[in-house]
Amino acid sequence: MVISEDARARIASEIAKYPVKRGALLPALHIVHEELGHVSTQTAVELAEIFEIRPGDVMEVVSFYNMFHATPQPRHHVHVCTNLSCSLRGSRELLRALESYLSVDDHGNTADGRIHLGHEECLGACAYAPMLRVGDVYHEDLDLEKAKRILDELD
Ligand code: FES
Repeated sequence: MVISEDARARIASEIAKYPVKRGALLPALHIVHEELGHVSTQTAVELAEIFEIRPGDVMEVVSFYNMFHATPQPRHHVHVCTNLSCSLRGSRELLRALESYLSVDDHGNTADGRIHLGHEECLGACAYAPMLRVGDVYHEDLDLEKAKRILDELD
């Protein structure tokens, strides 16, 4: 069993909020993703049992949303916004410099597998450009030194 008792209890509590059990599949995926870092085939099988659906139904949802992953992922996902406002304030140069700092290409993983670095479209923080996010945490008004410090402080 890969889904913990704690996660199962949280999923049960989400299911109770919906008139149809399946309605809680997205919150359940967030819960298991938070706990396990990805949704493996075994996780999909266990979720399918809980939701009384097919594992393929679970994986269809996983593959549709880019915030879910079916394979193990680096611990930290760092995305630099390269949309217009951020680009005008140097985000493309910042991204290139961070690629060099981490020795990765855009949308690559560091050699130790800890950090994924990539670019992303507008993240809705244009007034604080340039910005990047680490997971769900936004870092704004960046310059290269600030960005390097953020990366250095990742565990
Ligand atoms: S353009 Fe970067 S947050 Fe909007």
